Amino acid sequence: MIDIKLEIDGSKKFVTEEKIGKFSAKALEAKKNLLSRNGLGNDFLGWVDLPSETDPKIFESIRQDVARLAPKSELFVVIGIGGSYLGARAVIEALQSEFESFDCAKKHPFVIYAGHTLSEDYYHQLLDLLDKKEYSLAVISKSGTTTEPAVAFRIIKSHLEGKYGKTEAKERIIAITDARKGALHDIAVKEGYSMYVIPDSVGGRFSVLTPVGLLPIAMAGYDIEKLMQGARDMRDHCIHENDIEKNPALLYAITRNILYQEGRKVEVLTNFLPNLKYISEWWKQLYGESEGKDGKGILPHSLSFTTDLHSMGQYIQDGERLMFETFISVCRPHNHVSIPSDEENFDKINYLTTKSLTEINYNAEKGTIMAHIDGNVPVMRIEFPEITEYTLGQLIYFFEFACAISGYMLGVNPFNQPGVEAYKRNMFKFLGKPEN
Ligand code: PA5
Repeated sequence: MIDIKLEIDGSKKFVTEEKIGKFSAKALEAKKNLLSRNGLGNDFLGWVDLPSETDPKIFESIRQDVARLAPKSELFVVIGIGGSYLGARAVIEALQSEFESFDCAKKHPFVIYAGHTLSEDYYHQLLDLLDKKEYSLAVISKSGTTTEPAVAFRIIKSHLEGKYGKTEAKERIIAITDARKGALHDIAVKEGYSMYVIPDSVGGRFSVLTPVGLLPIAMAGYDIEKLMQGARDMRDHCIHENDIEKNPALLYAITRNILYQEGRKVEVLTNFLPNLKYISEWWKQLYGESEGKDGKGILPHSLSFTTDLHSMGQYIQDGERLMFETFISVCRPHNHVSIPSDEENFDKINYLTTKSLTEINYNAEKGTIMAHIDGNVPVMRIEFPEITEYTLGQLIYFFEFACAISGYMLGVNPFNQPGVEAYKRNMFKFLGKPEN
């Protein structure tokens, strides 16, 4: 059973039954190539079976590391960039309270991030905080040579050793990296850090269901087995369902490819809940890095409503018609807050007091979708019942599977990222990096 529904009624003007029929054959062919490992980038398909094949020993080992480090860590620093941190952050921020950092009674460490920036002030402020808090860390890099996390690890490791001494510092470091090679692998082996492997066949942006995502998510106190169960149920569905109307991943890939051919070059992922911001950031990397190559690809953009309706709403409604929108809609909140009635009704909102905030938010969503369709923006809507580890697991696998199908339909290799090297080459030249 899957909980995620995809509605494409708001795109019907552009995405006709006839076009869906035409593109379906392409999508099913892409699925066949993906599952038979015959498509481009087929040495990077390890993510397909992670939900069904992850060794239970990994869960046990993560449980032990969490039990060992959580009680002595107020903070847990995740050092990584791109695919080595966005998935964990997306899940943690979707599940945790917006005000989690102020919760003094927390049983699990509050997760903070490093290695995703080179800002000097950021590291100064971080070290200031780490002076005052008990902490441990995970350093995550598949290549083990990426500059940003390497710089951050050096700075924070030195702080950790200064604070706790070398022996205790080693106990507080977890390394997640390649099984055999890379600078991080070598130092982790030499120092005897607790280590986890990123499988060769799983690229960074598809790695959230490896220890890259699982370890930080578990450290933050969330149930990674439920996350995996959600991914597993979505995997079974995506793989076995060939009816396009019943397979949301195929329908999403088909619809976005049709809209791209209709000249819609930008996809805006929108949500009405601020804690989904990093789901959008993760999704942007997944789709941008997978499809943006060979002079092709939909540009992924994201907005958080209703706040961005008061900034970008104008452009979406009346600006250049280059985008389509995909709304993420969550049916149920976890808590309720009522709006008090006021005798004077000075702000004229007494009519809202019989409604829940979720109902008001839902009507804002309905109104926005209607307005944007009227403004000639094709709209899709992904609905799921509530935000839990289980539904997030489904959402993650849904987006990954659809991304692979969509990339194959576009005719690109969705699993490489040659363009990412260009800035590094220039930066190394400017910095005078030695050849060896
Ligand atoms: O998706 C990708 O491959 C990239 O975003 C990488 O995850 C990112 O560049 C970090 O690489 P690494 O894990 O090797 O440090």
